Amino acid sequence: MADSWEKLRADAENCTACELCKTRTNCVFGTGNTDADILFVGEAPGENEDKTGTPFVGRAGKLLDSFLYAVDIPRDRVYIANILKCRPPKNRDPLPAEEEACIDFLRRQVALMQPKVIVCLGRISAMKLIKPDFKITAEHGVWFVKGKYQMCAVYHPALLLRDPRRKEEMMEDMKKIKAKVEEMKLGL
Ligand code: URA
Repeated sequence: MADSWEKLRADAENCTACELCKTRTNCVFGTGNTDADILFVGEAPGENEDKTGTPFVGRAGKLLDSFLYAVDIPRDRVYIANILKCRPPKNRDPLPAEEEACIDFLRRQVALMQPKVIVCLGRISAMKLIKPDFKITAEHGVWFVKGKYQMCAVYHPALLLRDPRRKEEMMEDMKKIKAKVEEMKLGL
């Protein structure tokens, strides 16, 4: 049977492939425009995301919103998802086995959505999606071509909350993303 967003969401909401299903309040599937050309991929839901079922709604999410606003990329014109759909306890890093158990949901999201640009939010997402030895400090804002996708990574907004001095670099990277969108004549 052909995949669909409804089936995919139901599969994710009913998933018991790893231990995180036992502690989740909500599966955090993804949000935004499923027809968008740009996909942002974070790491894993935090406490607020687990409570609401929506990615990037906590403090880090508000900061992400402000960067999207600053370069005039409306949040509701892109799609935002995470590598993991369930919250790791105490927001610890995802375990490799959890990433493996969950990554097929993101693959199916990408297959349904067919984005042109994929932006990794932070190191964990970049290491999973761009290359295992991705170095966020050296390689943020650098474009990689993987198959039919233009890909880059930016700092995770939670890192910027801890280290606000890196916000200027984040702004430069967001401008590069906006320029790529314009160069590729993608709709927003
Ligand atoms: N951090 C993430 O990586 N994803 C979220 O959805 C929230 C915080």
